Amino acid sequence: MGIQVKPGKILINNEWTESLSGKRFDVINPATEEKLTDCAEGDKKDIERAVLAARRAFESGAWKKMSARERGRILNRAAQLLEKHRHEIAELETLNNGKPISETLHVDLPLAIETFEYYSGLADKIHGETIPVNGPFLNYTLREPAGVVGQIIPWNFPLLMAAWKLGPALATGCTVVLKPAEQTPLSALRLGELLIEAGLPAGVLNIVTGFGPTAGAALAQHMDVDKVAFTGSTGVGKMVMKMASETNLKRVSLELGGKAPNIIFADSDLDAAVNGALRGIFFNQGEVCCAGSRLFVEKSVHDEFLSKLKTKAEKLVVGNPLDPKTQMGAQVSEEQFKKILSYVEQGKKEGAKVITGGTPAQNKGYFIKPTVLEGVTNQMTVAREEIFGPVVCALSFTNTEDLIHQANDTIYGLSAGIWTRDIGKAHRFAKEVKAGTVWINCYNQFDAASPFGGFKQSGFGRELGEHALELYTQVKSVWVSLD
Ligand code: NAI
Ligand code: MG
Repeated sequence: MGIQVKPGKILINNEWTESLSGKRFDVINPATEEKLTDCAEGDKKDIERAVLAARRAFESGAWKKMSARERGRILNRAAQLLEKHRHEIAELETLNNGKPISETLHVDLPLAIETFEYYSGLADKIHGETIPVNGPFLNYTLREPAGVVGQIIPWNFPLLMAAWKLGPALATGCTVVLKPAEQTPLSALRLGELLIEAGLPAGVLNIVTGFGPTAGAALAQHMDVDKVAFTGSTGVGKMVMKMASETNLKRVSLELGGKAPNIIFADSDLDAAVNGALRGIFFNQGEVCCAGSRLFVEKSVHDEFLSKLKTKAEKLVVGNPLDPKTQMGAQVSEEQFKKILSYVEQGKKEGAKVITGGTPAQNKGYFIKPTVLEGVTNQMTVAREEIFGPVVCALSFTNTEDLIHQANDTIYGLSAGIWTRDIGKAHRFAKEVKAGTVWINCYNQFDAASPFGGFKQSGFGRELGEHALELYTQVKSVWVSLD
């Protein structure tokens, strides 16, 4: 404990530089509302330099023509370096994001490490196919890197989102310009240092810290970026797609918001389901795109379930994120803090009842008490819009026929959960729900090998697993005459 937090700089060509404008912005610790450090404010001109560096590195072949096994070794060394420095990086992430140290240390760091390990192993297993075509021809495919990739990431899992993006892009031989969220740039910069130490050639990874409408938009609009991968709000995701289509038609993948149904049947293991509902919404202060924010509870167990949920929610330890016993930390920013509390007010106005929480948890810092809203209907604003905070909306159901319709009655489709001992019912639901991930009798499980992404306005493209390789590769068909 007690790490030194360095001011942030921009990474271009393996060198740390200031922004061309010389501007800097403050980085806040959301648990204290105090300035943690400051960071170079990159804008369009810095994106320009970074894309140029990434383009040169891509065309030089220093990365894409390196033996795939050697690329894999570099990613593996990065995983080892993350492991070596995991306590320091977990603390840095906690200071910058406000999430508890127990989570950064036991969730964010291990999953980021695992992501680099997974793609280090996959780097030399990316290959084309031979296809039995008509006539005297040999036809085969080459799977080539997409080129220069722009990656724009959010603040809820700053290091992990960087790992999800960089792991597969670097494994395939792409070069990257990464734009971390302005609220939480620090862990991505530390990761940049470690990737250089691991042996990444100059220009392969460039990191431009700065704001969305300036640095982010310049990246999405850039004529020499071949692909943009974005994680964040649905509104900005739509803008990124528009910017890509109005410029060079760069490829786009989007991982956006969610409003997941988490369904509790009377025939479930109720105590396990209560814990799953808690984990589904209060993990990471509810700042999770796949959070189980619409809790459908079968009427016959509704009151018992909610009373257990309330008791457990009130026992969660909310407070100093650096304390190992803390279970819920601070929301990332004042903006998010206010937005969440205003959704609670909106819920009350529309007839929902706050059975616990709904108010700040401390006088200082952006802490909010774990909040349960009862008597929500699927039409209320709180059930339709992403709150992105520790607020669960409980809905009661009797008619199971109508349930799948209600679960799917949302613009989102990122994830869904179901709790029941009836395996037929569980698998039927898994098949019918429009969501990219379904958890049966569990929630918020992740693994670097398992794909993650959305249906509908939760976006498209699948991160993680072998599926992510499709985001960062092109397929080329080659014909050879055998005559
Ligand atoms: P945001 O979508 O504005 O920010 C995400 C990233 O996009 C950041 O790096 C930001 O700098 C960048 N960005 C913002 N405007 C941009 C633009 N015009 N062009 C290019 N890049 C741009 O998200 P924000 O405002 O921080 O949070 C608002 C809401 O979005 C949250 O309350 C939550 O509902 C949702 N959200 C969803 C996330 C997810 O994991 N799917 C993550 C973060 C936010
Ligand atoms: Mg925004």
